[in-house]
Amino acid sequence: MAVLVTGAGAIGMETAKRLAESGRDVVVADVRPVDPGEKKPERISFALCDVLDREALDRLVVAHEVDGIVHTAALLSTAIRVDPPRGVLVNTVGTANVLEVARLRRLRRVVVASSTTVGYTAFDTHDARPFEEDFALRIVSQRPASIYAATKIAAEHLSLVYHDLYGVDVLVLRYGAVLSAGAGLATSVPGRLLATLLAAGKAGREAVIDDPFLIWDGKEEFVDMRDCATANVAALDAPRPALRVYNVATGDWHSFDQFCDAVRALYPDLHVRLNVPLKGGFAGFPHLRPAPSEIRLAADELGFRAKYSLHDTIRDFAQ
Ligand SMILES: NC(=O)c1ccc[n+]([C@@H]2O[C@H](COP(=O)([O-])OP(=O)(O)OC[C@H]3O[C@@H](n4cnc5c(N)ncnc54)[C@H](O)[C@@H]3O)[C@@H](O)[C@H]2O)c1
Repeated sequence: MAVLVTGAGAIGMETAKRLAESGRDVVVADVRPVDPGEKKPERISFALCDVLDREALDRLVVAHEVDGIVHTAALLSTAIRVDPPRGVLVNTVGTANVLEVARLRRLRRVVVASSTTVGYTAFDTHDARPFEEDFALRIVSQRPASIYAATKIAAEHLSLVYHDLYGVDVLVLRYGAVLSAGAGLATSVPGRLLATLLAAGKAGREAVIDDPFLIWDGKEEFVDMRDCATANVAALDAPRPALRVYNVATGDWHSFDQFCDAVRALYPDLHVRLNVPLKGGFAGFPHLRPAPSEIRLAADELGFRAKYSLHDTIRDFAQ
């Protein structure tokens, strides 16, 4: 038996590594060829496969005797701004294809990567209590503020409908803003910001921010990609998940200045120049976050607690 991880990006690769370390065979599927590096990881194989090609996904599942899927393949917000129709297709139809293969092949469990952005639209109407796990499921009347969030909400609902109608054992994980490491890995907004600040800090030059998506007013919650991988594995194995939608976050949140200060713990002389005005919330969303996400159910039902603080992440990834 093997686990199929869709998406060989930051979180997919980290998840594959964790699964392999726990003694499981893993096949990682991505639409782009992946260079596994000089030392091919044991127990992990790579397949060129587009999640939009359901038959190819199905062939992979059969060929590798897959019994569980961690579905991370997606277009993130930056890529969607370049090609919205492709983002809608990959994030919604791609997810439906994964769920359909899981239904037909009676897979043991599917874990679907979502995002706390599904709740961002309600930041102006929500009070200062932590955002509960099922919060976004109760706000369908509020329009998502980005195509990315719309695709993630659609994928969440498809997942839960596949569970309710067909009994597919699927769990949805809503990651906070994910911080990843390494050149080429920073496809996400928070990853790009961290890469920009660290590069400037290392080079001893000023960090110039001229992308309005990389700054935010108020506070935002961040989570380490290693914690996302841990949560994926916990979700794949959780014995009795009840709610099926979980926040993957630390319970903590940070302003832009606090984020820069965390980088200054390593590079005290770092100077940051903003070439764009500070207005609105994170990643171009209009409203400020009123509270972090509730993380209790991920602990209770999945046994997951984030291990890395923002300072830990920045320190580790700076290397
Ligand atoms: N990074 C974040 O800030 C963040 C936050 C919340 C949720 N998420 C979600 O987590 C998941 C993983 O994010 P990540 O940071 O690893 O992103 P990433 O961009 O590093 O990885 C995504 C991978 O999906 C692949 N992909 C794209 N289209 C595909 C297709 N049609 N078929 C197969 N593969 C395809 C890409 O080539 C890429 O390798 C995504 O679902 C994302 O929406 C990410």
